[in-house]
Amino acid sequence: MSDTPPITSLADAAAYGEAVQLALDAAAAYYGDGTSTLDDDAYDRLVRGIAAYEEAHPGEVLSTSPTGKVAGGAVVGDVPHTVPMLSLDNVFGAEQLADWAASLERRLGRPVTSWSVEPKLDGLAITARYRGGRLAQLVTRGDGTAGEDVSHAIGTIVGLPARLAEPVTVELRGEVMMTAAQFEEACAKRQAHDGTTFANPRSAAAGTLRAQDRPYVCELTFFGYGALPHPDDTSEAAVRLRELPHSEVMAWVAAQGVQTPAVTEVGGIVAVTLEQVQERVEQIAAKRAGLPFGIDGIVIKCDLAADQAQAGFSSRAPRWAIAYKLPAVEKITKLLAVEWNTGRTGVIAPRAVLEPVELDGSVVTYATLHNVADIRRRGLMLGDSVVVYKAGDVIPRIEAPVVSLRTGEERPIEIPQVCPSCGDGIDVSQERWRCVRGRACRLIASISYAAGRDQLDIEGLAENRILQLLNAGLINDFADLFYLTRDQLLGLERMGEVSTDNLLAAFERAKTQPLSRVFCALGVRGTGRSMSRRIARHFGSMEAIRAADAEAIQAVEGIGPEKAPVVVAELAELADLIDKLVKAGVSMTEPGWTPPEAAPEGAADLPLAGMSVVVTGAMSGPLEELTRTEMNELIERAGGKASSSVSAKTSMLVAGEKAGSKRTKAEGLGVRIVDPEEFAALVEPFI
Ligand code: IVH
Repeated sequence: MSDTPPITSLADAAAYGEAVQLALDAAAAYYGDGTSTLDDDAYDRLVRGIAAYEEAHPGEVLSTSPTGKVAGGAVVGDVPHTVPMLSLDNVFGAEQLADWAASLERRLGRPVTSWSVEPKLDGLAITARYRGGRLAQLVTRGDGTAGEDVSHAIGTIVGLPARLAEPVTVELRGEVMMTAAQFEEACAKRQAHDGTTFANPRSAAAGTLRAQDRPYVCELTFFGYGALPHPDDTSEAAVRLRELPHSEVMAWVAAQGVQTPAVTEVGGIVAVTLEQVQERVEQIAAKRAGLPFGIDGIVIKCDLAADQAQAGFSSRAPRWAIAYKLPAVEKITKLLAVEWNTGRTGVIAPRAVLEPVELDGSVVTYATLHNVADIRRRGLMLGDSVVVYKAGDVIPRIEAPVVSLRTGEERPIEIPQVCPSCGDGIDVSQERWRCVRGRACRLIASISYAAGRDQLDIEGLAENRILQLLNAGLINDFADLFYLTRDQLLGLERMGEVSTDNLLAAFERAKTQPLSRVFCALGVRGTGRSMSRRIARHFGSMEAIRAADAEAIQAVEGIGPEKAPVVVAELAELADLIDKLVKAGVSMTEPGWTPPEAAPEGAADLPLAGMSVVVTGAMSGPLEELTRTEMNELIERAGGKASSSVSAKTSMLVAGEKAGSKRTKAEGLGVRIVDPEEFAALVEPFI
């Protein structure tokens, strides 16, 4: 326990600054060696005080403030909970789990014969109030007795439908979070908007859930872990729900169309013995690093309603449940150095070199740092102790320096004055610094990208060959490849007749690639493979893309007001290159494209019209040779939308051999599953 007095109101900016530091120190100690300078309640009070000050002084919010980081608890609100939203007590190993179970069984006076074991989702607790089957209100946990109304987020949360299967009145409790894919997308949107990113998926979800006036929308995910009828509801259905074992409550929740962990690889199970519980704990822990969302433990609950009712609650947590905590995915380590690299588009990106630290099953040595503004905003220094986050698929990132651990030995991070790749100047007019030579700085990388398998697919054009062509002065960009003559190629060292003819044939094939691939080959900043396909499908021709202004570009799904002008500027920068490609006879249209307004009926006739399709596992039969990009292109030619993750919006899953969690998830959601052969038959004319 701590003797820190409750902090409910902070007098001024200095007190606020101290409170933020105190909270950071407490978190540092907790994540560093598991000890904490504050107990949970004191920490909660402290953060609530910080949040209250920030609400009153929005202009003074410190970037290091923990308010964005704390699940629900940081945010106070004025919507009273019908039933308090409590915490869970923790255990940290098998022995402590056994002690907890033994004391629970002593209290009950009988053994527990049915345990529910499920993941502890690392997000924010919310309660979703359904009235007559309709989603009426979303409320955060707040301080547990009252939370904040975040109903504005309705419609942006995957797994939380607007309507349940039955017209019931019930509160569904669960966790709102960002999957790794949602997090990456949210960071990209924020980066494009103001040059900053989110520290980790949890704080991104917290900020997103509360945000009302952001110019961009980020998607969230919900997983339910409980259902509560209103305490005054004495209807037969309510009484029945209260009497069901937890596992059956969860099956009912899923049947209502709400996402539960059952659709993941770590869904809830019922264990009969403590050994089985421990076995499942270990299974879930082993799967953690591969999950597309964060978990910070495993929750073990008495499955039977009678056991829960008898065990009851302490002041802060149920006695019938416990959180088996897994090691933190945030740790403190040292920032040893910052490396600067110029990417293929000329963007100069810093990368943090860390004292190696084990996080979520792997050793982390590098972390992303985004840009100079980001480094300055965080006030990072070399030698700083920094909080590093890594979980699942998420790229390791530095959250914040721990200022109180400074020794005085820290040094400023040296910011490059010239391009680290070529030594030329740096264009600092944008948040993302760029070599003044742009993509010319990293010509080999940018040409090699254009020739890559998912772009122009020019076989036989390895990096050393590109270097040879550049050194011989035969090319200056990838458009020049299409002007190379047989004699020029034969004149190169290690270039025989056969390789020359093969390469020339590869260039000819590359000229016939669809616009989506040609566009992707350009390497326009902010657009990857799927965005290039979307742009090409939207406009149909390079001419139409080039004629589009920022507003017209914004009509493409996923391009917002920040990215659109970048695309327009990039196309202007690439004008000469595109002209050369056109002159060389490179295809500048998307096969099968028809203007959206001219052929709505035709589009509706396509076999996958209006469908969102996901591909998983190994393809076979006529699709065996197709890469994922080619499969996605096929889906889009056939009128569908290719997506990489299964959700309630998915219309079809193409599942080949060794399909894993996506298949399980699709099964759980009742998504139509077809094998590659069936799918090939469906889209045959488009293969
Ligand atoms: S049950 C009465 N189940 O963990 C408390 N909670 O540390 C019932 N959480 O505030 C909570 N996954 O937000 C429960 N499968 C799960 C959970 C879970 C994550 C969160 C929840 C709670 C916090 C407690």
